[in-house]
Amino acid sequence: MIPDDMVEEVRAAADIVDVIGEFVQLKKAGREYKANCPFHEERTPSFYVVPAKGFYKCFGCGKSGDVFSFVMERQGLDFVEAVKHVAGRAGVQVREVKRSQEEEDPNRPLYEINGFARDWFRRQLEDATVGAAAREYLEGRGISADVCERYGLGFAPDEWRALRDAAAKHGLEEELMLEVGLLGSSERSREPYDRFRGRIMFTIESRSGRVIAFGGRILEGDTKDAPKYLNSPETPIYHKGSNLYGLSWARHSIRREESALVVEGYMDVVSLAAHGFENVVAPLGTALTPEQAKLLSRYTKRVLLLFDSDAAGLRATFKAGDTLLEVGLHPAVVTLPPGEDPDTLVRSEGREGLEQYLDQAVDVLDRKLQILDEKDYFSSIERTRSAVDRLLPTIRAASDPALRDIYVAKVADRTGVRRETLEAEMKRAASGSAPTSVAAPPSVPRIAAHRVPKLGAERTVLLLMTKNPDFVERAGEHVGAGDFVDVAYRTIFQALLDDPELRAPPVSMDPVAARRLQEILSDPEELAHAGRVFEESVARMHVAALDRRSQDLDLRIAAAAGDGEKRTLIEEKERVSRERRELHPDDWTTTARKLRGDTT
Ligand code: UTP
Ligand code: MN
Repeated sequence: MIPDDMVEEVRAAADIVDVIGEFVQLKKAGREYKANCPFHEERTPSFYVVPAKGFYKCFGCGKSGDVFSFVMERQGLDFVEAVKHVAGRAGVQVREVKRSQEEEDPNRPLYEINGFARDWFRRQLEDATVGAAAREYLEGRGISADVCERYGLGFAPDEWRALRDAAAKHGLEEELMLEVGLLGSSERSREPYDRFRGRIMFTIESRSGRVIAFGGRILEGDTKDAPKYLNSPETPIYHKGSNLYGLSWARHSIRREESALVVEGYMDVVSLAAHGFENVVAPLGTALTPEQAKLLSRYTKRVLLLFDSDAAGLRATFKAGDTLLEVGLHPAVVTLPPGEDPDTLVRSEGREGLEQYLDQAVDVLDRKLQILDEKDYFSSIERTRSAVDRLLPTIRAASDPALRDIYVAKVADRTGVRRETLEAEMKRAASGSAPTSVAAPPSVPRIAAHRVPKLGAERTVLLLMTKNPDFVERAGEHVGAGDFVDVAYRTIFQALLDDPELRAPPVSMDPVAARRLQEILSDPEELAHAGRVFEESVARMHVAALDRRSQDLDLRIAAAAGDGEKRTLIEEKERVSRERRELHPDDWTTTARKLRGDTT
């Protein structure tokens, strides 16, 4: 921690023009300086530095702040690091008060425990006998001892109390071991036991390199019924949605390369690192969250999405693409051959092989256009109209105004819909005002709340899915089976995902579900404005799911044993409430926007 008076001393000594001028070509304009904004793409300068007041502001993207926030944003540093950087340029010696910070951080013991566990897992991997099979496995996958060391890979032996005993000998509190999720306990075994057993351990670090969690991969052949990966639970120091695996190692390289590769999992990150790609991160077992996208945006603008090439991978790609666009980033899609993931590809074709695919990365909107084209979407007016509907969310997601202009131009060019019309459609959606196009006449303004009865949302989604396979694909992107409360509807949903052309209940289907599906299939109603009814229904399902989640959390908070657990649950509940507020069901435009974000 740097004391406040010290911070002010650095601020006073620093020349904001000098500090910002290190990164941006500033031109004097009267008493101010201006430049092309370093935070968004532009051709005419709207970024101003006002030395007299010690701040900067961009009138294009709205970014503003002082000398420290500039360095934090631009360099991806935390506040203390930024103050030190500025102090360095200003020739001021900073005094840090370590002691008081450490006393203040109540989570310090949790970091210490994780640090201890990381070292212990490392020692097990290196142990001649205990770690032999794991080392062999990793070597077989092209991961050398050197990479294991750099990335903190370890091994949790297949024993119930090995880590627990070692930690006890070291004097670590069992209560805290349970809190960080390294130990588990159950009704049956009163004694806490090691949570990770017989697994390769991946260390999850915060951006600044503190050990916050672990992921454990089962050794090949040991798969039994256990999940392939086991991850630390959410704890006071670990929220999976706000961290990226690999960022602590990748951040410098991301800035140097001016791009980040986003892959699906631990193995991809480590395997690419083994082949010399260091600017790689992965979300932690969920879809890429807006928080993760924002985190990434502190380091670079250009993000390459490198997911599996199957249908699920493609869905994840476009979902992540929209999330990245929303925070002003420029995502591009790398298409790998069928059946490959980045790890298998780089192992079979080497660094150069993968580089060729990276060179062919295509902007996310271009990739959408390509796919629509491959699916023959531009062959008729009707299909083109529906292609436009599917492109609009991506255009709308682009928060960088220049990129958005380019997108509008591209879509106009490809579909023949005039730019003005596209702009109008987007404004309409953004403001929620009455539509202007013939597609939805003003006499039917936005979908009134009563059009989709609350409990009918699940059925409406299914009905639309049976009417048009396009909705099956869209539903697959936005809803999970778990979002259906009604078990029969859940079964039908799954069946439609498996076969979008389903026109009769499969023989194997549970009879209750089969009867309901029959009923839906024979429903003659053709819904007007199907697209919006669909979006509204999906939004309602999400709201209902969040409400259920919230009620469940209330119960768990009431039943929580320890303060730590309670705190985590309350934080979780706050997140859910925030998401719920943002998803207000009576304002479908916000919901529609929200739908493109993370819904897990
Ligand atoms: P994958 O199943 O694609 O694994 O999961 P992978 O990364 O290719 O690993 P290998 O090559 O089979 O060893 C991708 C990510 O999804 C999460 C993990 O974060 C994983 O890295 N995941 C997967 C889980 O959290 N749990 C699981 O059971 C499976
Ligand atoms: Mn893999």
